[in-house]
Amino acid sequence: MRVLSGIQPSGQLHIGNYFGSMKPNQEFVSKSEQSYYMIVDLHALTTLHNGEALRKARLDAVKDCLAIGFDPEKAVLFAQSDVKEHTELTWILSCVTPMGLLERAVSFKDKIKQGIDASVGLFTYPVLMAADILLYDITHVPVGKDQKQHVEMVRDIAQKFNNTFGKDLLTLPEPVIQEEVAVVPGTDGRKMSKSYGNTIPIFGDEKTIEKAVMGMVTDSAGANDPKDPEKSVIFAIHKLVLSDSDAGKLADEYKSGIPYGDAKKKLFEDLMDYFKPMREKREKLTDKKAKEVLEGGKKKAESVAKSTLERVRVAVGL
Ligand code: ADP
Ligand code: TRP
Repeated sequence: MRVLSGIQPSGQLHIGNYFGSMKPNQEFVSKSEQSYYMIVDLHALTTLHNGEALRKARLDAVKDCLAIGFDPEKAVLFAQSDVKEHTELTWILSCVTPMGLLERAVSFKDKIKQGIDASVGLFTYPVLMAADILLYDITHVPVGKDQKQHVEMVRDIAQKFNNTFGKDLLTLPEPVIQEEVAVVPGTDGRKMSKSYGNTIPIFGDEKTIEKAVMGMVTDSAGANDPKDPEKSVIFAIHKLVLSDSDAGKLADEYKSGIPYGDAKKKLFEDLMDYFKPMREKREKLTDKKAKEVLEGGKKKAESVAKSTLERVRVAVGL
């Protein structure tokens, strides 16, 4: 099993990213013998057009990964833009990728709907993702449900390439979707997302986190009225950081009428407890350390990527 996943360096990590993507992916990646985790800064460039911000976000993303428990000795942690082979393979693959395939991408259509100006890069996003995966002969790609279609497109692109230039040249990857991972709601009850401004950041300062939690939406139940935990956004987030038995006890407190203000205070305290070790670790990580990790990851990733690309270049006649 050869595993790879990636994360966009695009702002402060929030608890939706953590529980919906980083934690399950990190667990999967850590269990695998051969694994890669990539900071996809070239993908971030499809929507982030600020050099200073991207440079900072790349190092922040490395620190986030290290703080939540990635071990760069076990998984190769690297930045996509450090391995030039990603862009060259993207071009070669784009020459066998049908336009129609990319036109079906749901995430592209969504971004257009959100009013993001479509660049060619945004349109060919899945081809770059194909290069990311195919360069390392990856067999399994753990991703959130929103990325399943992209991994299926990677299979289609690899299949098309193999049919054209020689079977078995590229390895077809399988998506690994963590079905039990729920969508984490944001402070306003919609899906937690940077684009909705409803996030609870993990590594933000304590006051910001407290303000986000205390401002969460509730229904109009009176302070001591019984409340349905299953309908509460506060409870939905709280149970992510509790054991099953503690979540059960808390559910009983909702049913017997805990005031929402108290429920929020408890949530804030438990969030701070849960993330304390990661926040402390993150605090101590320097830019220098993040750069060293990227440098080490680059060397390991590059040697594999070079040999795959050479195989591809020979097959296509370059
Ligand atoms: P955002 O919506 O804040 O821009 P991204 O789209 O960058 O977040 O998400 C990165 C990863 O985190 C994705 O793979 C996605 O599956 C996961 N993710 C983001 N928000 C949530 C959420 N609210 N619940 C579960 N998973 C999420
Ligand atoms: N598109 C993915 C996301 O937004 C990130 C990504 C880029 C990725 N390349 C990848 C994920 C390769 C897995 C494998 O979440």
